[in-house]
Amino acid sequence: MIIAVPKEITPFETRVAATPNIVKKYIALGLKVHIESGAGIASGFSDNEYKSAGAEIKKSAAEVYKQASIIIKIKAPTPSEYRFLQKGQIIIADFDAFNNFQRLKEFTNLGLTAFALDLMPRISRAQSMDILSSQNSLAGYRAVIKAVEMSSKAAPMMMTAAGTIPPIKVLVLGAGVAGLQAIATAKRLGAQVFASDVRPAVREQVESLGAKFLEIKSEENFEASTGYAKQTSEDYNRRQQEAILAQLPKTDIVITTALIPGKKAPRLISSQMLKAIPSGGVVIDMAAAHGGNVEGSKDHTITDTDGITICGNSNLAAEIPLSASFLFAQNIYNFLNSQFKKGKADFAFDFTDEIIVKTCILKDGKLLTQGE
Ligand code: NAI
Repeated sequence: MIIAVPKEITPFETRVAATPNIVKKYIALGLKVHIESGAGIASGFSDNEYKSAGAEIKKSAAEVYKQASIIIKIKAPTPSEYRFLQKGQIIIADFDAFNNFQRLKEFTNLGLTAFALDLMPRISRAQSMDILSSQNSLAGYRAVIKAVEMSSKAAPMMMTAAGTIPPIKVLVLGAGVAGLQAIATAKRLGAQVFASDVRPAVREQVESLGAKFLEIKSEENFEASTGYAKQTSEDYNRRQQEAILAQLPKTDIVITTALIPGKKAPRLISSQMLKAIPSGGVVIDMAAAHGGNVEGSKDHTITDTDGITICGNSNLAAEIPLSASFLFAQNIYNFLNSQFKKGKADFAFDFTDEIIVKTCILKDGKLLTQGE
């Protein structure tokens, strides 16, 4: 059985779905790996490293897709890649399925089976396969490093003979996987950190990292049974905006990560509110690709408005591609290995297993998700 690893063609995508180390693991299972020439270059892995690990290097995308039973990718195939796909093939990737239901429909004519790793259930057995956790952790870390790099201030408090520099002040909005890692990173750099989230359970996690929790009092429960956040009420939004506005004049860096699966990202900071940030401030909107937490932010775009730098970027893990590919590739391997038929060099996907039920979006061309 052949597993294929094409080169990613989505703009700004630098990651690769298998590292040389993971190639060795597939081969140890008795599988063959075909990889497109240059697929690992942007992540720091050469064709020679893949060859030494036992992979066969294919010169073109057409060749790499050709004989494969399973195709593993970072991002779901784009329309320009559909011509390479063949009936019966299995695709495993990040489909951003909650937000791209229309695009999923395009795949139904291709007769494929597809697993969207972004729909992995948040259960302990699936943690080692959870691409949202591994990639968002790295993205939260990267957001802080990037913001501090863009800031004209030093992060830690410094007491020098010439005077004392106060610690930089960071505000993190949305304290899920990315937000908590952003808080931890900012704390490690010596920043003073404030954070907020609609899910009250997060307070303890934020405080245990040494950050201050900005509480927005509410009788309503905005946590869904899935563990994700729900859309908030107008009353809550108004009180949240007041709390954020009161904090912004004391803030040097804002990192926003707030998302609601399948919905437009909540708007947490308006253009008017941005004016409250002192000049030199940096805002990183990690929800930019999903409509943005910050008014006017655009994905993969840095703008400067009245001395405030606004950076929209929803794919920050791709800025540290070696680490990101290391974890993503391991997530895919763990997913496949959980369905491996020992001694047969083959997979037997168990369609009663919650992991398979939740991630399988297409079975032999039939769309299994309703886009909710
Ligand atoms: P996410 O990426 O969907 O959202 C990011 C954060 O934004 C969340 O904390 C959410 O509550 C917050 N948010 C949404 N709307 C907001 C608003 N209007 N204002 C402020 N904050 C807002 O969520 P993520 O990071 O994927 O985590 C979702 C849940 O899944 C968490 O409870 C997390 O602990 C849990 N989880 C469980 C795992 C497991 O058991 N395998 C693995 C990873 C996460």
